[in-house]
Amino acid sequence: MRVLLTKHIDQTGIDMIRAHGHEVRMCSQQSEVTRESLIAELGQYQPHALITLLTDAVDEVVLSASPSLAIISNYAVGYNNIDIEAATKRKVFVTNTPDVLTESVAEFTIALMLSVARHVVHGDAIVRSKQFHGWEPLGYLGIELHGATLGLIGVGRIGSRVAEIARNGFGMNICYYDINRSELFEKATGARFCAQVESIMQNADIVSIHTPLTESTRGMINARALQCMKRTAILINTARGQIVNESDLADVLQNERIAGAGLDVFENEPDVHPRLLGCKNVILTPHIASATERARSEMSRIVGENILAVFRGIVPPHAINAKKTTYT
Ligand code: GLV
Ligand code: GLV
Repeated sequence: MRVLLTKHIDQTGIDMIRAHGHEVRMCSQQSEVTRESLIAELGQYQPHALITLLTDAVDEVVLSASPSLAIISNYAVGYNNIDIEAATKRKVFVTNTPDVLTESVAEFTIALMLSVARHVVHGDAIVRSKQFHGWEPLGYLGIELHGATLGLIGVGRIGSRVAEIARNGFGMNICYYDINRSELFEKATGARFCAQVESIMQNADIVSIHTPLTESTRGMINARALQCMKRTAILINTARGQIVNESDLADVLQNERIAGAGLDVFENEPDVHPRLLGCKNVILTPHIASATERARSEMSRIVGENILAVFRGIVPPHAINAKKTTYT
């Protein structure tokens, strides 16, 4: 069988696929896999499996370029880059890489929380630019996580893990919004359920976003939601950029309507809203929350497992659309 890969990933899963006698080919224009070049490569190579990154958009036209396609194995937990309905119609499995990046993303979320709350990046810039003139009794005062309220928007795997670390490690109070209320989660973390996003925004000292990007979460954190936040509050986003309206966020940061933000994801990656670039009270990182050696090699293994399952004629372990798709 033939597998097309859009960009170099950790080798683990690729080696697994090759060890089973299948062919894996990389898209030739590595530096820039455009929609057009992907369609052309699919057309030429006619792969049975496609390994995509979260930056590769797959829609009906892309899918139709290779009628032999049986699976799209996304190298990410999020799969908003893929038209699931179109894939399902064509009986193409779509799979993701859950669980294995939960720890790395949760840890990175905490890293951003601490860095924003304690001015770590700004402090570093001060020292490097030789503006550190001695210990400051009143400078750089931040907030302590201990006793602060963490408001989680979305408590799936990652959001729940962040809650556990925040509760057990820092003694934070947790409140959460989710489409599903979970009493188990509430028992484990002492979390309080809020039926409205607005009450999270009003009550939390730190708001952290952990929902997938869907039509109902797109732009969910807009001016109206941001205006509800405390002046001393911080917003963290390690989920998807389009959940937050960046221009609205830049407004509240510039007006110091909120204290700060830590953003690993952006509305139009790799572009970042120019007004955010100018804000001092925001930490910007290049979509690296899952970037640990272990997470990325495990993600690759799962990508390989899903493809090999489909090649063996069974439902892949991490199918998004398993119920609606039967292998043909
Ligand atoms: C990263 O953003 C992922 O969805 O895996
Ligand atoms: C993603 O893995 C999530 O469920 O939070």
